[in-house]
Amino acid sequence: MGGWVVLRVSELTKGFGSGPNRLEVLKGIDLEIQPGELVALMGPSGCGKSTLLNIIGGLLPAESGEINLKSRSYGLRNPSSVVDVRRNLVGWIFQDFHLLDHLSALDNVAMALEISGVPSKEAEERARDALARVNLSDRMDHIPDQLSGGQQQRVAIARAIAGNRPLLLADEPTGNLDIASGADVLRLFKSLCHDEENPISILMVTHDPDLASQADRMLLLRDGTVAASDIRSAWGLDEEGGEEE
Ligand SMILES: Nc1ncnc2c1ncn2[C@@H]1O[C@H](COP(=O)(O)OP(=O)(O)O)[C@@H](O)[C@H]1O
Ligand SMILES: [Mg+2]
Repeated sequence: MGGWVVLRVSELTKGFGSGPNRLEVLKGIDLEIQPGELVALMGPSGCGKSTLLNIIGGLLPAESGEINLKSRSYGLRNPSSVVDVRRNLVGWIFQDFHLLDHLSALDNVAMALEISGVPSKEAEERARDALARVNLSDRMDHIPDQLSGGQQQRVAIARAIAGNRPLLLADEPTGNLDIASGADVLRLFKSLCHDEENPISILMVTHDPDLASQADRMLLLRDGTVAASDIRSAWGLDEEGGEEE
């Protein structure tokens, strides 16, 4: 990994509202992710985890600070001027999968590629490859209703990796899954990150300390800043011990 970072977030701040209704959410976020790293982000409900992911993903502007993703700098711009970040640099995985109900697994993945400009035939080939990487080659023609929750999330993961984006943002990806399927998703994330030929990086929000402890690194977002974390500080058991890395 050699110190090269794929993502650097520097002194990022964001709040909502004004006057007496003003809410400061992010108060100076600093973090880095290296190529091939799976990083778990934990923190109490409402502390700003989704807000942070939305800014990194180019869906929401911050108020100050900067994001560097590969060679791109952004963070304060209107979402309409970071289309390239959404199209080429960041893939998303959500708690509730966000698949299209009436399309097969193959078409769900292929359509996402077509929207970003890949010709249909190539999109279908790349969708097949991506579904094979998540072990769904035998379910490509099924629609979401015919798949288990874990399989649906693997379709969403195939969709996210099919575009060859260097960073995946996963917002509570196991929140709607049973324990076994959640563990499968985590194993899959690790194999995608640690793939020697084509490593990606994943920033994953989770409330599950067992899953978080299997990531390469854990970060805790609390009181508007991010600190390196271990399992005890993530649970608030050890107020002094969790800050060192
Ligand atoms: N668009 C918005 N307008 C006003 N407040 C918001 C908005 N988005 C998020 N918030 C508030 O910001 C805080 C952080 O929200 P969020 O990032 O969703 O937290 P988390 O994902 O950690 O649960 C919450 O108090 C939430 O109510
Ligand atoms: Mg959230």
